[in-house]
Amino acid sequence: MSIYTPPTAPTTPFDDAAMRDTLSRFCTGVAVITAIQADGQPAGMAVQSFSSVSLDPPLVCFCPAGTSTTWPRISAAGRFAVNVLAADQEELCRQFAVTGGDKFTGVDWRSGVNGAPLLTAALATIECELADVLPGGDHLIALGRVTALTPPERLRETSPLLYFRRAYGRLTASPSTPSAPSAATSSSKSASIASARSRSEA
Ligand SMILES: Cc1cc2nc3c(=O)[nH]c(=O)nc-3n(C[C@H](O)[C@H](O)[C@H](O)COP(=O)(O)O)c2cc1C
Repeated sequence: MSIYTPPTAPTTPFDDAAMRDTLSRFCTGVAVITAIQADGQPAGMAVQSFSSVSLDPPLVCFCPAGTSTTWPRISAAGRFAVNVLAADQEELCRQFAVTGGDKFTGVDWRSGVNGAPLLTAALATIECELADVLPGGDHLIALGRVTALTPPERLRETSPLLYFRRAYGRLTASPSTPSAPSAATSSSKSASIASARSRSEA
């Protein structure tokens, strides 16, 4: 059996800043990945790299940085929850985008079916078991098999928190409007924007 070897793609030079600046134009939502550690303590980190992957089997993924101190805790737990943040959870996101400290101070949460913390005001929650971890350069690609979803009565009918060009934003059009929504970046770009700029994502 022959193995296809693609031709080497032509490249033009670019630096990390150009990579960050270009990729920051891809607008995403934001999620907080949470897990319960063996000692019962909750762990969590904000990510924009969350994505759905597969319907059958039901898979999602996110990309933790190799430098993350929270990822090893989530990995050791072997199961986690994805908390999709709502537009009114910018401060919560900032709280989960720092290293160290008790990120759960003042945060209202309950245990999911798999034990992972479900943040009360999240737009939606997706419970997973860690299915695989793949290499991804200076990040990892964590694949989660979905084991439980927010019950319909708990789904919030509100707008998502957005992240675009290193600033938080929200939809200015109703999410139910079929025409393309525009993103309005928030006027406050302080601490967590700086922290976002210092990490390796866009
Ligand atoms: C909007 C936003 C998105 C982020 N997305 C990711 C991500 O996809 N992967 C990642 O490793 N870190 C991401 N971070 C950074 C982590 O939240 C942060 O580095 C981490 O929580 C640091 O703490 P830790 O050392 O406890 O992991 C993001 C931060 C912000 C503000």
